[in-house]
Amino acid sequence: MGYPFDEEPTLAEGPELDLAMLREDLIGELQAINQYEEHIAALEDEEAISILEHIRDDEKEHVAELTKLIQKLDPVQAKKFDKGTL
Ligand SMILES: [Fe+2]
Repeated sequence: MGYPFDEEPTLAEGPELDLAMLREDLIGELQAINQYEEHIAALEDEEAISILEHIRDDEKEHVAELTKLIQKLDPVQAKKFDKGTL
């Protein structure tokens, strides 16, 4: 599945551009997790599965790091995370 927002963001420079790039990076990390999940499900070799599971979990850590960074740089987003309850 392709990412439908491939166009370059037309944003001002500075913090908004930084945030736009970090959001793109976050999308990439989430897509990587999905891709690893697909490959883990399709693989037969146990060692390959184990390694991809480890890499997938590293990508989940990257998602957490980027999410925290985005919250730090975007107070509105931070408020939304604080407010968001399941
Ligand atoms: Fe990553």
